[in-house]
Amino acid sequence: MIKIAPSILSADFSKLGNQVETLEAYGADIIHLDVMDGRFVPNITFGAPIVKSIRNFTKLPFDVHLMIEEPSRYIEDFVKAGADIITIHYEADKHIDRTINYIKSFGVKAAVALNPGTPVSNITDLIPNLDMVLIMSVNPGFGGQKYINYASNKIKEVKNLSLKYNNDLLIEVDGGIDTHNIKQVVSCGANVIVAGSAVFRQNNIQQNISELKRGF
Ligand code: DX5
Ligand code: ZN
Repeated sequence: MIKIAPSILSADFSKLGNQVETLEAYGADIIHLDVMDGRFVPNITFGAPIVKSIRNFTKLPFDVHLMIEEPSRYIEDFVKAGADIITIHYEADKHIDRTINYIKSFGVKAAVALNPGTPVSNITDLIPNLDMVLIMSVNPGFGGQKYINYASNKIKEVKNLSLKYNNDLLIEVDGGIDTHNIKQVVSCGANVIVAGSAVFRQNNIQQNISELKRGF
């Protein structure tokens, strides 16, 4: 089962609730929420109050991608705001194992994201305890960037680890995914596909989601 997770980073922020309703109506499976702090990444987006404000507009799971330093400081806020999956960056937390367990203690799913330059082997020991691994296929911080080709090999590496240590592991890919490369990332083993610009392009959400779904 391949899931499409539109990133609202490319949505119209003046009507986010409505945009989230539209995504659900047109076949999105998960809502991907990109939280940026201006420290871990150069950009600043939004925090828990915005996540909370759109929670009631959809029943879809909220996948909160925390691109913030020391994410453990804000886990509880995002749980209370309605997160179903919380993703923290390997590079942003000195005590990643502890924070994974902390996230899980709230009964939500825990995921670790890897920047393009971070090897998959760094998280081998964490795989049995994770619900999802996120392979970044762009350097995080901005939508609309080009897919980095070596991310495909990293997806394959995670897939191999999941076959060995965690059959239920979700494998998410994020950055530069469109109708041209979605088939490739799925064939490498990704099963949660984040797409921002490819979903909101020309404000044609319905057609864009259905083309992405026809692409794999
Ligand atoms: C990048 C974000 C992505 C991004 C995806 O830092 O994590 O979720 O918004 O956008 P596109 O699909 O435009 O690359
Ligand atoms: Zn993201």
